[in-house]
This record gives sequence, structure tokens and C-alpha cells, in this order.
Amino acid sequence: MDKVYLNGEFLTADQAKVSVFDRGFLLGDGVYEVIPVYAGKCFQLDGHLLRLQTSLNGVRMKNPHSNSEWQALIKQLIELNGGGDQSLYLQVTRGVAPRDHIFPEGVTPTAFAMSNPLQPVPEKYKTKGAAAITLADIRWQNCNIKAITLLPNSLLKQQAHEAGALEALLIRDGYLTEGAASNAYVVIQGTIYTAPKDEKVLPGITRDVVIDIAKANNLPIIEQAVTEQQLKQADEIWISSSTKEVVAITQLDGEAVAGGVPGPVWQKMDALYQQYKLKGVA
Ligand code: PDD
Repeated sequence: MDKVYLNGEFLTADQAKVSVFDRGFLLGDGVYEVIPVYAGKCFQLDGHLLRLQTSLNGVRMKNPHSNSEWQALIKQLIELNGGGDQSLYLQVTRGVAPRDHIFPEGVTPTAFAMSNPLQPVPEKYKTKGAAAITLADIRWQNCNIKAITLLPNSLLKQQAHEAGALEALLIRDGYLTEGAASNAYVVIQGTIYTAPKDEKVLPGITRDVVIDIAKANNLPIIEQAVTEQQLKQADEIWISSSTKEVVAITQLDGEAVAGGVPGPVWQKMDALYQQYKLKGVA
């Protein structure tokens, strides 16, 4: 998957160069998207392009492309990289300008896209689930913006990794917000809870799909944050993201959740999600 898109051109990765004065490099001044591609087609592309626009609005940055331009260049990039299953990455930064906190005037944003092979969700997550640890949510107050400034997320995820866990579940003011790179859900007495869309969580595209599936199949779901206490006593815990789909968390801080295996509500959700995946591509 050697071909990338940069500012109107399709290049090999080693030909693609960005200035050291790019504000993405110097200030982390940019936003991004990660979109799963199944059999050459994007999953939930409209939702991802809408969220990209919302993130751009949130940081007062111009979208360098219309939706139809994004759609066309994405299609071309997927084809140039051989189709199949891919993890597509889009990034827009404010552009190249002398370093200054104040926004530069009249600068063209840097538009970049690449794709990587989409790693299949490991079988062990399906059969055994995965481990998570709880950590304090040290991120900023605008987690609804998908900003490239991922240092807090990266520190949290690394801490989870060093503890032998897949994900860090984040606690802010006593409540579960989300994972370091995923949305989070708990099941309590058959009802699924996930934090509401506000500035404390990323509005996950997979989360939207999970909610749609639950509603269409009479699985009770409530967009309401749970306390750390409720998290620790939950019948089931899940995480979701574009690259991981929906994964059951069966160990939390070293303790078994739901008897240490993916629970019955997750089993239903995963089966329905796999069916939905075949329909949601474009
Ligand atoms: N991350 N919350 C956070 C903090 C995330 O970073 C992500 C995804 C999600 C899930 O969003 P979605 O369902 O739209 O993928 C929630 C991506 C995959 C990443 O940074 O690589």
C-alpha cells in the first residue's frame, strides 16, 4: 500500500514530502479520520466525511475538498493500493507557515491520505475477549474533535499496553468517558449504556452503528454515562472502533468481567455487526 495522496497528487510514500514548517508537524494543528475499507469499499464513508467537517469546524479550519472530491480521491487511492480490505487514513492540517500560535492568513491546508492493510480482528478477541485497565482521563476538553494531537491518548494506550491490556478505559469526574482509542459500553441487567455525545467523547462512527443495530433489534440502549463503580460491577463491557469493530472486555484491572468470557449481549451485537458490515459499504 505504497501509494499516498498529498495535496492533489498521488505519489509513492517516499516521494511524498511535507515542509518542516507544516503546522501539523510543529503544532499538532490538524484533524484526521480512520475509515475501514472492506473489499475495496469504504464503510460508513458519509459519516466519516461529516465528522471530518465537524472536526474542521471545531478547529476553525477550511476543508480543502468537497465531499465529492474526497469521494473521488479516496476511490482512486483504494484502487491504486490494490483494493481489498484497507484502513484508510485522512489528515488535514492548517498548512505551512512560519511558526506562530496565531493562525496564518491565506494559507492552503495540507491534505493527506494513505491506506494500510486492515488487520483482521484477532480470533482470540472473539473467543476470549480482551483486557483493559482504568486510568484517569487526562485529555483536553474537546475530545469530540478528532485532532491529530494524540499525545495523551498515546501515553494512556502505552500504559495499557505495558500492563498487558488492549485498552485504557478513561475516568473523568467519576464517570467512564471512553477508551484511549475507542468508545466504551457497559451492559447492566440487559441494558447497554454508552456515554452521550458531548465534548468528553469522540462521536464514534462505529458507536453510531452499534446504536442503530441495538435500536433495530430491540436491544435496550441508553446514551448515558456510567460511574466508575457501575463499570466495575458491569455484567459486560465492550469497546468499539473502526479498526477493532466491537470487542468484549473480559478482564478489567486484572479482575474477570462476565466470568472472563464475552457475554451474551456482545455475542448478539457482534453477529448483527458482522451482517451490517456487508450492507454499510459504499
Ligand atoms: N480511533 N474514541 C477515540 C478516542 C478514538 O480514537 C476512536 C477511534 C474512537 C472510535 O471512533 P470510530 O468508531 O469512528 O473509529 C473513539 C481511531 C480508530 C484511531 O485513532 O486510530
